[in-house]
Amino acid sequence: MSAKGTNSIFRQKLELLVLCGDFKVIQRAEEAASQYSFSFTQLLEEDFDDYFSDSNVVRPQVTLICQGPEEQVADFGRRATELLSKFPKSCVVAVLNLDSVKGDLSGLQNLHIVPLSEEEFYHTAKFEYACLFRTRAQYLDIPRNEVFPGTTIPFSVYIKLPLNQKYLAVIFADSVLTDERFQRITDESDHLLIDISESAQYSSYINSFFDQAGIGLRKRSRALFLSFCHSAFLFQESLLFNHKRLPPRITQDLFIKLKDMLYELVDLMKRDGELWDVFREACDNEFFAQWRAPWVAVYATLISVKSGKGDPICVGIAALLTDLSLYDLPREAFHKFLKKGAEGLRDSYLDELRNHPLASLNRVRSGGISLQDEIQKVLVSVHEHADGTGFPYGTIAEGIPVEAAIIRLAEQIDFQARNQAEAPEFSFSRLREKLMRADGLNRETYPSLFFESVSKALL
Ligand SMILES: [Fe+2]
Repeated sequence: MSAKGTNSIFRQKLELLVLCGDFKVIQRAEEAASQYSFSFTQLLEEDFDDYFSDSNVVRPQVTLICQGPEEQVADFGRRATELLSKFPKSCVVAVLNLDSVKGDLSGLQNLHIVPLSEEEFYHTAKFEYACLFRTRAQYLDIPRNEVFPGTTIPFSVYIKLPLNQKYLAVIFADSVLTDERFQRITDESDHLLIDISESAQYSSYINSFFDQAGIGLRKRSRALFLSFCHSAFLFQESLLFNHKRLPPRITQDLFIKLKDMLYELVDLMKRDGELWDVFREACDNEFFAQWRAPWVAVYATLISVKSGKGDPICVGIAALLTDLSLYDLPREAFHKFLKKGAEGLRDSYLDELRNHPLASLNRVRSGGISLQDEIQKVLVSVHEHADGTGFPYGTIAEGIPVEAAIIRLAEQIDFQARNQAEAPEFSFSRLREKLMRADGLNRETYPSLFFESVSKALL
């Protein structure tokens, strides 16, 4: 589908540009575009300059390129980098030739480049993952009453224009918000948004205006959780793709930051143990609907804090990482997992399913992150069942750390909450009550006395 010559009066956003003429690549991109309704344009490399010489043409959010059959990987890296200099806010997804994946890929190591092997591109959902994050998860809603006139706002604030769905900055980072401007902005729009990359600045602004009790504590928790999600995404991205290798220092710094945020979240949870809905409602978009690790991590941590069982930091870290390798599953299996949960894969993808906790641990290790032995044990034990029917080892009750059972329960809670949240009668407390009833969960697969010890955290 070539859109050469399209010149939108309203400058609709272009989410995906495919800069390649290969039929198979275009077909794969079209599948993703139709599944998530990405605005999509395909061009041949030789038409590129012509097309973008028109200043009225919209810049792409994600550009997909593929390595030519005769193209050296170093030249491919240069091509990706040149594209970034033209579209500095874009992300380049670069599909490598089969022969190049073992070559020197240093030219493709950039925060804004996602190198994918053909296997990853055609058979996994990693392409959708990269596109969705860049196109649908960049802006987060914030309530209007969280910015105050007369203060310096350390992050930019945006509104979404109803006509063309574009985001317009109405407050620039580090500027003072005047009364007039505040009035004008709130008259114009019900919703304010921030860029997810400035969620840490947003969190520290909220901390300076709200206290640590009641509504203030909930606002702090929400803001901190958004910042946690952003760091968790960046951390995950540094581990998720086979050929993306950020300098180990970046990955390790992100890991330390995540742990620090978990300690802060634990402090807030100790003051208010009913933050379930705060986390559940914090943000919602197509990207986060697929990537639930931050929610499972905070629900599991909350259960640990409230019940006094397990180490909450170990719970939070293991929960964030245990499903990393689900993105290595074939696309069909991955989507089945999203719809039916891990149990939904038991029939046709048993081997892949059984291996995923160990594969996740390998990804973490090969990203240069060394986890404590206790966290490693929890991470690989999340799907073990007390009756020995779990995986990967079939460990029985005594060998399953309580932290792993807590994470499995949190996954159930998140899965059900995600699938029932649209129902008008949905309430978190009702869901938890239902799960804790004798027939609510497969109790014999949890260690004995487990429900007794965590029920006060849930009811
Ligand atoms: Fe899992």
